[in-house]
Amino acid sequence: MNKKQALLQPYNKNGLALKNRVVMAPMTRGRALNDDNRPTGELHAPYYAERASAGLIITEGSQVSEDAVGYINTPGIYTEEHVNGWKKVTKAVHDKGGTIYIQLWHVGSMSHPDFHGGKLPLAPSAINPNEKSFTPEGFKDTVTPKAMTIEDIKTTVEDFRKAAANAVKAGFDGVEIHSSNGYLFHQFFNRTTNQRTDEYGGSIENRARFFFEVLDAVKQEIPENKIGARFNPSLHGSFGSTMDEETIPTFDYIIKKLNDYDLAYIHLSEPFSDVSDLPYAVSEIAKHYRPLYNGTLMINNGFDQEKGNAVIERGDADLVAYGKPYISNPDLVERFEGNHPLADWDQDTFYTGGVKGYLDYNTIEEAQEA
Ligand SMILES: Cc1cc2nc3c(=O)[nH]c(=O)nc-3n(C[C@H](O)[C@H](O)[C@H](O)COP(=O)(O)O)c2cc1C
Repeated sequence: MNKKQALLQPYNKNGLALKNRVVMAPMTRGRALNDDNRPTGELHAPYYAERASAGLIITEGSQVSEDAVGYINTPGIYTEEHVNGWKKVTKAVHDKGGTIYIQLWHVGSMSHPDFHGGKLPLAPSAINPNEKSFTPEGFKDTVTPKAMTIEDIKTTVEDFRKAAANAVKAGFDGVEIHSSNGYLFHQFFNRTTNQRTDEYGGSIENRARFFFEVLDAVKQEIPENKIGARFNPSLHGSFGSTMDEETIPTFDYIIKKLNDYDLAYIHLSEPFSDVSDLPYAVSEIAKHYRPLYNGTLMINNGFDQEKGNAVIERGDADLVAYGKPYISNPDLVERFEGNHPLADWDQDTFYTGGVKGYLDYNTIEEAQEA
């Protein structure tokens, strides 16, 4: 009977050959505790390998350059040390029959000069997101970033291309572009954070241009059907993001245009906050975007087993990404198979480094033996 669960059905389409439709969502865990910010065989490899029964694992956001970083102890994908570290992770996951994509990340203005030798973080326009940045010395207020020059934009496009090349070298099955959650791409998409007057600002097409230039650069290194892209269209009031009447039309334009590409998937988030009173927002993201996009649609945010099965059965999504449930349930798929209860996550150890709250969550078997 369990095999009939929609979440547990295999998914074979385009670049994806997944044993089930349960995806581990990308999650920053702050465990690259070394001078190189490289993932390690001691921490990252066993953490991801324990979760290899997921149809697909998407790694934590991984900075594509020194400019791209905005949090402590997050891994990079721009040096040989990073590539060698990630090789240990991909091997460990592949040895257990898993599939793993790396999330390519640039935080833009959601950073602090402490990460950049005193230089200002980069962003489309010089607008302070008025958020907090978690620096090596604790939380600090964000600053007014530097508006990127055309040269900065070209360099950043190239950084993503090189990061994609490194991802291939490191043995990843694909990459996800982190064009979501108020970070650099989202800052280009939204009018409040992008007040440029050149070809990267103003019209919807111009605000989407940087994303498509990066996508075109990334696909020089890895086939289109091994590339995913993540969007959070109704993000409002957090991560420096404010919606207006052009926000949803901008995402509609981008997602419809992605029909011209042959991507592995698009990865959408349902709103992070209640936007039902906001005239410009869409409250049901999967429902809104399903008819606009012909390819594979992955949905995330707040799903449990029942809701995950239901959204696939309704036909609103093909794959469901689980975040926090994957922190505390390495065997999430087996728990769904057996209709077992899920273990609770400990928010205090999300980013604290080390083994605690990272490698010490039990499988259902271990929990039953204990
Ligand atoms: C500890 C933590 C770290 C996260 N880091 C990332 C990240 O690096 N990249 C990203 O796109 N989303 C990140 N997210 C968001 C998750 O991918 C996901 O959207 C969110 O947890 C909601 O899904 P859930 O309700 O299944 O937890 C993070 C979430 C958590 C809890």
